[in-house]
Amino acid sequence: MYVASALELFTKIGISWLLRYAHVVVGIAWIGLLYYFNFVQAQAFAKMEAPHRNGAIDQLVPRALWYFRWAAAATAVTGILLYGINQNLKQYEGGNTNHSILTGMLIGLIMLTNVWMFIWPNQRIVIANARGLLAGKEADPEAATAGRRALLASRTNTFLSITMLMFMTGTQHFFGSPHFDANGGKVAIYWIITIVVLAAIEANALGYVQGLQGPGTKLLENYKLVIEAAVALSVVFYLLWEIILRA
Ligand code: HEM
Repeated sequence: MYVASALELFTKIGISWLLRYAHVVVGIAWIGLLYYFNFVQAQAFAKMEAPHRNGAIDQLVPRALWYFRWAAAATAVTGILLYGINQNLKQYEGGNTNHSILTGMLIGLIMLTNVWMFIWPNQRIVIANARGLLAGKEADPEAATAGRRALLASRTNTFLSITMLMFMTGTQHFFGSPHFDANGGKVAIYWIITIVVLAAIEANALGYVQGLQGPGTKLLENYKLVIEAAVALSVVFYLLWEIILRA
């Protein structure tokens, strides 16, 4: 009886560790490519002559996007399984770790939506246009708008990534407080503010706030500003956490 339950626990801990390990490997593949697109590729494309850029869009971008979107999917799947097994192992009880990881997961899932619903479909239009031009066809009038939508979603993911990683890495190593005694009211306030802030960021990414060329979306064009804003956002969430939830 004891041997059986010890074995079961051992297996669960082993699976939890393997999932965590796999999760971080595919997670860095995803976010590594996200940073490559934003900090390296976009800057290089802006300087390249159209025929060279179209050649790169034909040969380079589809390969990078394949790893990017499947790494994103694998990160989400391993992350959700990890959450399930950790719940089973009662990892999130008696502290505030559950709110911490749920915040990180919510941000990660918004980012996953941006990859599959906005970046990838719009990039497909951009790739088809570049290939058409290389084959001597007319330019697709939709391509510029599609490129803009993909850029805004991609920059928004960069903006969100630092805060997402703060909660991913902080759940077991920083945010968990054994003295956690935030009552239901405090928890509700925390979640209302979190959801409103994230909804506003996503609405801006999709151009619902001031259109695709409004001040909020213009800000996303400058990748250095996006890095600064990303760090600032993590400070905002850290303070929100400390002020509202830390006992
Ligand atoms: C797409 C949505 C994602 C979901 C649903 C998710 C879910 C999770 C869960 C449940 C944990 C375990 C937390 C704990 O108990 O400590 C975790 C940890 C972690 N995640 Fe994610 N995650 C996502 C995205 C990412 C991404 C993109 C990265 C980038 C590298 C990442 C990196 C990590 C790291 C480094 C840890 C901490 C491992 C540790 O402290 O041992 N996650 N994630």
